[in-house]
Amino acid sequence: MIVKGCIFDLDGVIVDTAKYHYLAWKKLTSILNINFTKEDNERLKGVSRMASLDIILEIGNVVYDDKMKEEYADLKNKWYLDYINRMTPEEILPGSLEFISELKNAGIKVAIGSASRNTPLILERLAIRNLFDAVADGNIIIKAKPDPEVFITAAKMLGVSPADCVVFEDAVAGVEAALNAGMRCVGIGSEKILTTAHYVIAGLDKMSLKKLKLLAKF
Ligand code: BG6
Ligand code: MG
Repeated sequence: MIVKGCIFDLDGVIVDTAKYHYLAWKKLTSILNINFTKEDNERLKGVSRMASLDIILEIGNVVYDDKMKEEYADLKNKWYLDYINRMTPEEILPGSLEFISELKNAGIKVAIGSASRNTPLILERLAIRNLFDAVADGNIIIKAKPDPEVFITAAKMLGVSPADCVVFEDAVAGVEAALNAGMRCVGIGSEKILTTAHYVIAGLDKMSLKKLKLLAKF
C-alpha cells in the first residue's frame, strides 16, 4: 500500500486527557458514592461520554433514568471543561508535531478521528486545528468506536480511500474501529493490550515517515 492519509485519535495519542477525564469522573463518583479507581478509568478509553457513565453506574451497581443520566453527564463535562480550558500547547505529546509535519511535507493528508465532542475546544487550546486537513469527531458521528464510522468519515473528508489510510489509536475499541474500516492501525501504548493492531509503539515520538513506509509494505 502507499499511505495517502493518516488519521489520528486525539485523546491518548496527541494529548493525555485521560487524567482530566479521571479527575472529573472522580468528582461525580464521590457525590454518587461510587468507588471509582484509576484501573476503572482505563475501561473508559475511547468510550463515549454516556457509555462511560453507564460503565461507572454499573461499577457502582446503581440505576438512574435517562434524565438523571443526562444531568450527571453534563455535570461531569462541566468539571472536565474546567481542566480542558486551562490546557496549553505544552501538553501536546512528544513527537506528535514533528511526525505530523513530516507527513504534511511528504504530501500525506492528516485528519483527526475522535469520539470526543470536546475535540474543537481541545484543538483550539493546543493551537493545532490548522494542522489537520479534516476533523471527524463526536459532534458529527452517530456510531461509537468500534464502529468504523468516525474513520470512514475522516477518510471521506480527506478524499482518500480507506485502504490507503493508517490510523493511530490508543484504545482497544479504536483499533477495532480502524480494522473494521479496512485501514492499517498503529497502536499507541502496550502490545499486551492492543493485540490486534498491525504495529504498536509507546508514543508518536517512536514514529517517523521512514518507519511508516516500511510498515506499509507488509
Ligand atoms: C474519547 C476518550 O476520546 O472521548 C473517552 O478516550 C471519552 O475517554 C470520549 O469519554 C468522549 O469525550 P467527551 O469529551 O465527548 O466527553
Ligand atoms: Mg484515545
